Amino acid sequence: MSILTRKLLVTLPQETYSKFRLMGSFIEANYLYHMASKGGNILEVGTGPGKSALLMAQALKDFGVDGKVYTIGWESDQQDYANVWKRLRRYPELIDSIHHESRKSEEVHQNYPDLAFPFVYIDGDHSYEGVVKDIINYKSKVAPGGVIAFHDTNKEEVARAISEYLGWELCAEVHRIKGYRCGS
Ligand SMILES: C[S@@+](CC[C@H](N)C(=O)[O-])C[C@H]1O[C@@H](n2cnc3c(N)ncnc32)[C@H](O)[C@@H]1O
Repeated sequence: MSILTRKLLVTLPQETYSKFRLMGSFIEANYLYHMASKGGNILEVGTGPGKSALLMAQALKDFGVDGKVYTIGWESDQQDYANVWKRLRRYPELIDSIHHESRKSEEVHQNYPDLAFPFVYIDGDHSYEGVVKDIINYKSKVAPGGVIAFHDTNKEEVARAISEYLGWELCAEVHRIKGYRCGS
């Protein structure tokens, strides 16, 4: 656990953590909740079951801040995509705050404006090549002073891609998530 954890201002309520049946690290969820609570549009690569997108949308709602979660997730079969929507629709109060694009991140980066997102969260393809592509395609989306964060930075390939291609200052280290500030 790093200094960042101690600096967190916002505490994720236990009932919100339970609401989305989040698994794994509470402090990672707390970090995402905290970042989203600041407001502004959020860009996520790697929708998966939609838990992180839902959690961040919940933070926008809880704090009454403007913003939307743009989540990009490619699944290997259509059934998985249907399941994501089924899951997201279970939370009608959040659905307007989530825009889900079911495509590979490398195919849609042009759809998102540069310098527009205070928070970009990369949790898609965790191979070295996948993370390199996401850094190249999505680094430019971060607003000045904003943060790009990566999940699973404990994986060697993820860590190597970041160290070779990002070049920004580490500003947050919360279990497997590392955040880096734009403009450093
Ligand atoms: C670890 S999961 C994401 C979990 C999600 N962030 C959550 O917490 O609920 C990673 C997801 O990224 C997807 N993925 C893999 N390669 C991708 C790519 N090139 N573009 C977009 N999504 C991709 C995988 O299919 C998987 O659903």
